[in-house]
Amino acid sequence: MSESPLQGQDGSGAPVRPGQLTVRNLVKTFASRQETVQVIKDVSFTIEPGQFFTLLGPSGCGKSTTLRCIAGLERGDRAHIAVSGRVLADTDTGAFVPASDRDFGMVFQSYAIWPHMTVAQNVAFPLHANRRRHQLSRKEVGERVEEALALVRLDQFGGRIATKLSGGQQQRLALARALVTRPDLLLLDEPLSNLDAGLRDHMRGELRAMQLRTGVTTLYVTHDQSEAFSMSDVIAVMDAGVLAQQGAPRDIYWRPSTAFVATFVGQTNLLSVVRPPLQAGSGILSVETTIGPLLVNVASERPIGPGDSVVIRPEDLQVTREPPLDGRANVFRGRVRRPTFLGENIELEIEIGSELLMTRQHPRFAFGAGDEVYVELPVDRCVAVSGAAAGVGSHIRGTIGDPAAPHTNAAQ
Ligand SMILES: Nc1ncnc2c1ncn2[C@@H]1O[C@H](COP(=O)(O)OP(=O)(O)OP(=O)(O)O)[C@@H](O)[C@H]1O
Ligand SMILES: [Mg+2]
Repeated sequence: MSESPLQGQDGSGAPVRPGQLTVRNLVKTFASRQETVQVIKDVSFTIEPGQFFTLLGPSGCGKSTTLRCIAGLERGDRAHIAVSGRVLADTDTGAFVPASDRDFGMVFQSYAIWPHMTVAQNVAFPLHANRRRHQLSRKEVGERVEEALALVRLDQFGGRIATKLSGGQQQRLALARALVTRPDLLLLDEPLSNLDAGLRDHMRGELRAMQLRTGVTTLYVTHDQSEAFSMSDVIAVMDAGVLAQQGAPRDIYWRPSTAFVATFVGQTNLLSVVRPPLQAGSGILSVETTIGPLLVNVASERPIGPGDSVVIRPEDLQVTREPPLDGRANVFRGRVRRPTFLGENIELEIEIGSELLMTRQHPRFAFGAGDEVYVELPVDRCVAVSGAAAGVGSHIRGTIGDPAAPHTNAAQ
């Protein structure tokens, strides 16, 4: 892929480089006799050439529908979609390139290899199916197939019947078949979800290594945050048909912008905001929460107030028996309620006033149930987000047990 910018033919006038995907104002409605549901609500994003970009979100939020609109398998009610400056769909002009002419590599959850063909025949299939466009000699087809099989480390298996491969090998075959046309864009919809857990972890590494070797721009769809974190340059978190936040994995994790994003990626503590800060604007502001005033990072100019939350990750709380040095902000007295020794760390629930915060600490710290402790919520780790946790209460996703249950694992 060349690095030189092409002058944009996508209508925006902006320079466009090979492998760049632009999606603007994508809206998609499904109508049945009973109801009409808008499942994609004005989604826009750009994937830069060579990026590994992941759409991450819960089941039913519209990830596959977005991908299918990009592939040309669905038509948006409204959309402007362009790859490498080539307009593929534009509802203003009526432009629409059919899926078969979009030349993307695609792998879906059910990766549908041809069972009666050999591995090499499977890989060559897209080149034969689209012979007119690819115009390759038999020798060139052979070379392309070898190249694609080598990319996924299946070069020893070309002559084997495709069904006589393991699950992971079949997955790699599907990838080779998607890459053989040297596409500008690779679309992957939960391609690892049929594999067992061990193989899935292994294939994440393989897939990312292959993507880096080829430099192919990749749009990956998953509901699995570890997949998203381990492979992506950019993650876009999707919630009910809208992009809630887009950013590098670390930004999504440490600087979530909404309570939904914070709770969807990893465990977190959410404290309810009870009064807006005295001072408006962004930066480090004092915010009244259910445990008292907290200095927190406010990233947006949108005013925060009741109905919003402060996020702090469990591993960021600092717990000590002795009071921290004078002058530290965000320090509270608390009581350990439930210590759970997990080997690599110790998980503690700590009561601060009427709130319960969860934290993970080094397992060397032998905290026991009922211990009085000091808890510091480091200012740079406290982030104000819009919205509150779904459901009643303010805090942790998933792990608060029944308070009446006996302590079965007190780490003394
Ligand atoms: N052809 C269709 N007709 C009607 N509704 C549809 C159709 N395809 C998808 N939907 C609805 O659109 C919504 C989004 O579906 P989509 O498949 O995009 O979700 P997803 O984020 O990929 O979920 P999952 O993680 O479960 O694959 C869902 O509510 C789904 O039921
Ligand atoms: Mg899906």
